[in-house]
Amino acid sequence: MTHKRDVMIYTRYERFWHWSQAVLIFTLFFTGFGIHGTHDLLPFGLAVMIHQTAAIVLIGLWIFTTFWNFTTGQWRQYLFKKGILKIIRFYAYGILKGEPHPYKKSLQRKQNALQSLAYMTFMTVIGPALWATGIVYLLYNEWSHFDGAGEALGIVALLHTAAAFAMGTFVIIHIYMTTTGKTPLHYVKTMITGYDRIELSEVEEAYLAETKAAEMK
Ligand code: HEM
Repeated sequence: MTHKRDVMIYTRYERFWHWSQAVLIFTLFFTGFGIHGTHDLLPFGLAVMIHQTAAIVLIGLWIFTTFWNFTTGQWRQYLFKKGILKIIRFYAYGILKGEPHPYKKSLQRKQNALQSLAYMTFMTVIGPALWATGIVYLLYNEWSHFDGAGEALGIVALLHTAAAFAMGTFVIIHIYMTTTGKTPLHYVKTMITGYDRIELSEVEEAYLAETKAAEMK
């Protein structure tokens, strides 16, 4: 027997780091493309200053969150899961036919297989590509005296901008995905309040009531 209950699946820290990361990435995107010359809505010097400050704060947040992920065991949520083709088929086709989602959320499996793969790529490829090239860019004064430093900086800027495009693509798909819940704002509300309605077995329900491992309404 299972029951549907409102369970806090995103703790206060998870919600804090999710939204602060979102604000910082938007700020970096906006100022970065100002520096790149795509728009001139900000003076160049100001854009550079905001970009560098937000980048340092974001790197600090990433380091802290990586530490949090490992100490709380939450890193397991990001591991590869089977069933990814079913999820892709659902978003490409089933969703248009009104089919039910092939995946049921649980406390141990907050993310479906496609989400885990996307977030894993975000954390191990797109994020590191941005901070690694960004830090090399930031330290240009330290290596500008080497032969060919000017050309190397051009390559670093190109790689950094390419990674920024990958980040932009991720964000657009991510925002689209947030609208595909029961209502267009369902997933956004979940990330604000922390609560989602999930199916619990009697054992899980008794365990949560007894240990308060996650809050339940
Ligand atoms: C996370 C760590 C990051 C660091 C350390 C960093 C650092 C930098 C630095 C130092 C510059 C050059 C500023 C100058 O001209 O002095 C730059 C430019 C830029 N950044 Fe970042 N950044 C980071 C993240 C991001 C993110 C998340 C985005 C977008 C989503 C982004 C997009 C850009 C773009 C488009 C440019 C302009 C590149 C060019 O054409 O020269 N950056 N970044």
